[in-house]
Amino acid sequence: MPSLLPKTPQFFQLHHIEDQALATEAAAGLLAASAWASPKFFYDALGSRLFDAITELAEYYPTRTEAGIFTAHGAEIGAAALKLTGTAPALVDLGAGNCAKAARLFGWLQPRRYVAVDISVDFLRHSLHGLQREHPQVDMVGVGLDFSTQLRLPPDVLAGQPALVFYPGSSIGNFAPDDALRLLRQAREAAAGGALLIGVDLLKPPALLQAAYDDDLGVTAAFNLNLLKHLNRLLGANFDLRQWQHVAVFNAAQSRVEMHLQARLATTVRWPGAERSFAAGERVHTENSYKWTTEGFAALLRDAGFGSLQHWTDPQRWFGVFLAAG
Ligand SMILES: C[S@@+](CC[C@H](N)C(=O)[O-])C[C@H]1O[C@@H](n2cnc3c(N)ncnc32)[C@H](O)[C@@H]1O
Repeated sequence: MPSLLPKTPQFFQLHHIEDQALATEAAAGLLAASAWASPKFFYDALGSRLFDAITELAEYYPTRTEAGIFTAHGAEIGAAALKLTGTAPALVDLGAGNCAKAARLFGWLQPRRYVAVDISVDFLRHSLHGLQREHPQVDMVGVGLDFSTQLRLPPDVLAGQPALVFYPGSSIGNFAPDDALRLLRQAREAAAGGALLIGVDLLKPPALLQAAYDDDLGVTAAFNLNLLKHLNRLLGANFDLRQWQHVAVFNAAQSRVEMHLQARLATTVRWPGAERSFAAGERVHTENSYKWTTEGFAALLRDAGFGSLQHWTDPQRWFGVFLAAG
């Protein structure tokens, strides 16, 4: 007789919030001549929820534009992906967040296994449990992992079978081109002869880019400032959020939107064993979002070893979805 108990996703936690290495990395960034913090520090449980709120904003075009591409071409993209991976592939979702984008692919792909990977472990666990209830037929695995240093999945998760690696939302844009290349090479290895399906934000007029990272309601500002709360917890630091403001600028020379936190007044931040003084106006650089041309991103995928490429865009050519294999 089949079990009446709800299925529970398997969970591997390879990343620990209190990991000393993360605290060391965060402290090194704050103590650098030009202070910086990795965008991965946005994503504690509140940060993940604030990101979800950002995707609802009128100014934040990437999520709805990418969704529009899947609405228009999803069946074609799904069929093209299955040709490369074989039927019922494992679907690996990098930076899965609320898992909603991958869930939209289930109808086209009928994956035998869904592997959701994210650094924001508690949020991922919650999202995956909800999704498992909606799709009891799919075998689900959660992996709490920081893939900015290395994308290495637990060995049994894919068992060497070809997979479709899904990396939506233009999160690849958070990596400078050399680091993006390294991550794409690792994604190709993880696909094990399958394919990569990746969403990429394309270059467009600066005013549109800037507004997407500096909305009038201040949700992106809260998302950026929440990083300081996360660092306070991680390091035992004493950032006073009211002394900091959100700044977003488009850096045309580097083809990227930058987010910073700027000190309103001269201030000193302390944590056990260290301190850092900031002059009024001094910044902590928290995120880069590189914007690509379709040709430039195709060249990057080829450099990463992918020989076969297909891509789809929206009518305004604001966003690209690439399917890469080989
Ligand atoms: C911009 S959100 C995108 C979420 C979702 N995939 C989407 O497209 O809407 C980035 C996601 O990647 C996760 N993430 C960021 N840095 C990461 C890292 N170094 N390792 C693993 N996950 C990371 C975040 O927790 C977050 O869920």
